[in-house]
Amino acid sequence: MLSFCFSLLAATLVPVAAAVAAGPAACSNITTQLGSSKVVASPLNLKYIDSIEYWNTLQDAYQPSCVVYPASAQDVSVALQAIRAADSRFAIKAGGHNPNTFYSSVDAGVLLDLSSMTAKSYDADTTLATYEPGGVFGDVYEYFVQYNRTVVGARLAGVGTGLALGGGMSYLSPQYGMACDSFRELEIVLPDGQIVTASKDSNPDLFFASRGGGGNAYGVVTKYTVQSRPAGEFYAGNIIYTFPQKDSVIEAIGNFIQYNTDPKAAIIGTYEKLPTPDLNLNLDEAIIMFLVYDGPDPGTAFDNFTSIPYLLNTCSIKTYPEVVDMPIPMATELSRGANMFRVGVHRPGNNSYETALNKWRAWAEDNKGKYLLLSLDFQPVPKSLTDASKAQGGNAMQMPDGPWFWLNYLITTPVGMSEPDYNAVQQSYRDMVADTGNAEGLPLFINDANYDQNPLQTFSTFAKLQEIKKKYDPDNFFADKTGGWSFA
Ligand SMILES: Cc1cc2nc3c(=O)[nH]c(=O)nc-3n(C[C@H](O)[C@H](O)[C@H](O)COP(=O)(O)OP(=O)(O)OC[C@H]3O[C@@H](n4cnc5c(N)ncnc54)[C@H](O)[C@@H]3O)c2cc1C
Ligand SMILES: *[C@@H]1O[C@H](CO)[C@@H](O)[C@H](O)[C@H]1NC(C)=O
Ligand SMILES: *[C@@H]1O[C@H](CO)[C@@H](O)[C@H](O)[C@H]1NC(C)=O
Ligand SMILES: *[C@@H]1O[C@H](CO)[C@@H](O)[C@H](O)[C@H]1NC(C)=O
Ligand SMILES: *[C@@H]1O[C@H](CO)[C@@H](O)[C@H](O)[C@H]1NC(C)=O
Repeated sequence: MLSFCFSLLAATLVPVAAAVAAGPAACSNITTQLGSSKVVASPLNLKYIDSIEYWNTLQDAYQPSCVVYPASAQDVSVALQAIRAADSRFAIKAGGHNPNTFYSSVDAGVLLDLSSMTAKSYDADTTLATYEPGGVFGDVYEYFVQYNRTVVGARLAGVGTGLALGGGMSYLSPQYGMACDSFRELEIVLPDGQIVTASKDSNPDLFFASRGGGGNAYGVVTKYTVQSRPAGEFYAGNIIYTFPQKDSVIEAIGNFIQYNTDPKAAIIGTYEKLPTPDLNLNLDEAIIMFLVYDGPDPGTAFDNFTSIPYLLNTCSIKTYPEVVDMPIPMATELSRGANMFRVGVHRPGNNSYETALNKWRAWAEDNKGKYLLLSLDFQPVPKSLTDASKAQGGNAMQMPDGPWFWLNYLITTPVGMSEPDYNAVQQSYRDMVADTGNAEGLPLFINDANYDQNPLQTFSTFAKLQEIKKKYDPDNFFADKTGGWSFA
């Protein structure tokens, strides 16, 4: 009896022990090959502590066996092969803003933190720009200011370059398409460690999938070569309204989505619900518009917003780095918390704006106390954006003609919420979003999606992406050993 118990115990313990040992084994092999300056294994080390900070602070709880700081594609290749040899789990981290569990975090495995890879360049003859995956878009933009150029990337300075692999919505997107549409060549370390180039001429299928088909799926991108764009003066700012204006503002957003034809004008409309008491004065609610015009004179593009009585209007002439610091510098850092995203996609018409807003608002009222912050963001996808995407070959979403819009649903839960309470509130929020429904035939935006929304399945190109995934990750190394979007 005793020996039976013992062997049962051994049988259950052995695989666990092996899995735990895989991380340290990979780490020691990587240390041997890359040297100890590129690997940190102590959770007390400040670099390590910095590396396990995520925008969704629930990810901070996971402890990698070590953090590896590759300096080149070659280093990434060595690390991936060592991880594979040890059968360890791993994660690839750029800016660490994806809120989904294990998308860029890992427990007892190897964290590949790309933060040391920050080289950039600009070629005035071709107007092509290059950047490596480390750092955040704010750093990338600052660098190209000296050339009066920029690249299509995040709308907030603090977001990392993984954004571009999920498509990447920028204030410049109505003119130039998604961030990934400006890709011209990528350097990619494949799951087997091979270093390849992906472009329209070289591995075109891999290039196709990497333009918006998601990060950590087909390999590790170690260098982006993109078409740069001019960046001069912008007329931009935030307008803040109180909630009694909610219907006027939603109508203005709806009109903008449907009728604005000036591709230099971009907006985000955000409705915010705070945990403060309601007191029938709507002090717990605010509406913040982000208005950005590429050029000093927006003409009439924003008149529908400025004609509604507002609390505050910060619109003024700004540089591009100032534009991505709206509404305040460090916005991404300051909004760290137990954050989760969901996404919806809709066409204008059928009161789709009001329907989504009213459902969300009713949920917010019913669930007071269960969140620190909720926001609902309206993100237009105009025809000019989808045209610009097509003109550059089209991305992995093969975006149907605009106008349509994505909704980003954010929920920040209180710190220390019990697991059952956390799960219940997430499920309830999920049900509310699901109940709002989505337009047929439009892709869910990867960058705003919750893992359970399986956005790839909504792409018309899903079967093609599955083929490409199978070709470049044939033994499911990435699929099995790191988090990411489901191809099943
Ligand atoms: C405050 C905030 C603002 C945002 N604003 C925008 C916006 O304006 N536009 C927009 O489109 N999205 C926006 N997003 C969404 C954002 O694009 C996604 O969260 C994106 O995943 C963040 O990329 P990251 O590099 O910061 O995060 P990470 O979590 O480090 O990376 C995201 C995913 O990509 C993978 N990955 C990253 N780099 C590589 C690489 N080089 N090779 C292979 N895989 C890689 C990671 O493994 C991870 O799964 C915002 C998010 C936040 C939190
Ligand atoms: C160490 O990693 C290399 C690849 O980087 C691999 O070829 C080798 O087999 C690994 N050694 C062990 C003991 O896993
Ligand atoms: C950038 O623009 C400014 C203002 O128009 C100009 O003075 C400067 O010469 C430009 N720099 C380059 C490198 O083109
Ligand atoms: C402003 O709203 C009106 C309808 O009230 C619409 O006709 C017009 O196109 C809108 N303009 C913009 C730029 O959204
Ligand atoms: C509006 O709803 C009807 C019925 O549900 C649907 O057939 C139609 O396609 C919708 N129109 C838009 C623009 O979504």
